[in-house]
Amino acid sequence: MKNTQNFISKQADRFLNELIILLKIPSVSADPSYKSQVTDCAKHLANSFKEIGLDKIEICQTAGYPIVYGEKIIDPSLPTVLVYGHYDVQPADPIDLWTSPPFEPVIKKTVIHPAGAIFARGACDDKGQMFMHLKAVEAMLSSGELPCNVKFMIEGEEEVGSGNLAIFVKENKEKLKADIILVSDTGMLANDVPSVTTGLRGLSYVEVEVTGPNRDLHSGLYGGCVANPINVLAEMIASLHDENGKVNIPGFYDRVVELTDTERQEMAKAPFSHEAYCKALDLKETMGEANYSTMERGSIRPTLDVNGIWGGYIGEGAKTVIASKAFAKISMRLVPDQNPEEITALFTHHFNKIAPNSVRVLVKPHHGGEAAVTPIDSIGYKAASMAYEKSFGKKPIPVRSGGSIPIVALFERELGLKTILMGFGLDSDAIHSPNEHFGLFNFYKGIETIPYFYKYFKELNSNP
Ligand code: BES
Ligand code: MN
Ligand code: MN
Repeated sequence: MKNTQNFISKQADRFLNELIILLKIPSVSADPSYKSQVTDCAKHLANSFKEIGLDKIEICQTAGYPIVYGEKIIDPSLPTVLVYGHYDVQPADPIDLWTSPPFEPVIKKTVIHPAGAIFARGACDDKGQMFMHLKAVEAMLSSGELPCNVKFMIEGEEEVGSGNLAIFVKENKEKLKADIILVSDTGMLANDVPSVTTGLRGLSYVEVEVTGPNRDLHSGLYGGCVANPINVLAEMIASLHDENGKVNIPGFYDRVVELTDTERQEMAKAPFSHEAYCKALDLKETMGEANYSTMERGSIRPTLDVNGIWGGYIGEGAKTVIASKAFAKISMRLVPDQNPEEITALFTHHFNKIAPNSVRVLVKPHHGGEAAVTPIDSIGYKAASMAYEKSFGKKPIPVRSGGSIPIVALFERELGLKTILMGFGLDSDAIHSPNEHFGLFNFYKGIETIPYFYKYFKELNSNP
């Protein structure tokens, strides 16, 4: 991999400039007003595939945004790596909290990234991380050192639930035939504490609507006489956790796989400072389910959170009114073996049941997905571990993450393939938040590490 690494060093500036161009395209999948820019981003990516020398490049149309496909098959008898990532990004709002415009990338130094970080929506999630794979493959191809076949499948709807990718995967099993799926869309513990993500949580997402009277009412004439949907919703939400921080929905924990004491002790070895955690978030104290650590609460335990709540008068000054309706968006993060449809059904049943007769409730399900875990004794994991050891000089720690990439469970079910999650972002990189960024160290370390994965994956496949 000498020539590959030399190529990367020589082309470092160009790689960064190309990422900057990609980050300038506002490919916000959730907001229909960005429709043409999301489509442009797919075309731009297909062109990048062409530039690095991939074959069979295709912009695969779906009922939503396209999936960009490309491959390099050097020898059918060699193992094949299927790279997955997404070119869509989260909405940038609230815009005024950004210190520089979200789609005008700039490089700034931070305490955590003294070598600089690139600030832009999608810098870490996932354009910056997905682009590392293009550049790593470019470097291997240009140096004649690509050890495996490679297929790229980059979608434009990850941030809105990957609904059309699920259909695409089911309909294109032959095209997607591979030995392993490789994804960089997660994080690692710290720049000097490399880690490989071995688990993702599942998700069940619902929107609730509580209706009281059929119109908004004068709060003096009617206050105290009719149900106020906002008061009622607040009480209903408050009742969804018990005094131990457990989710109070009957059946919610029925299928949860509990970790053994040994597994929990193993997990607790990962470095974690409660003090630094609180300090970074300006908190006096953390909270969560009793008898579990913060790391556990955020990875191996299921949770329920209100993501948004609205209703009534929120304009200037005071308006004395009882609103007719109140709303909330609620996410439940799931762990193995919880089933998202079943959890949504349990929630819906329970929410209807606890509603007083004075209101009507409506529960609208949104997207969801199953949790996924990766074994650490597989060839794929070993190859990743060896690759990190080579580039970071130390073995990575296996860590289960709290985030979700619902398509990973589907890859396993439909394609029978395990996914290796080689994430290079940091939790402090502010993904989905204002001032999202990605460390230059992380970007280049990713490009440096990925080729070693290919090398060791090939070697371990022929000689396990
Ligand atoms: N890349 C993230 C997921 C992630 C980030 C996992 C960091 C682990 C560590 C992904 O783009 C994402 O945001 N997923 C959504 C779910 C999706 C269905 C919208 C999430 O986790 O909220
Ligand atoms: Mn992502
Ligand atoms: Mn995301």
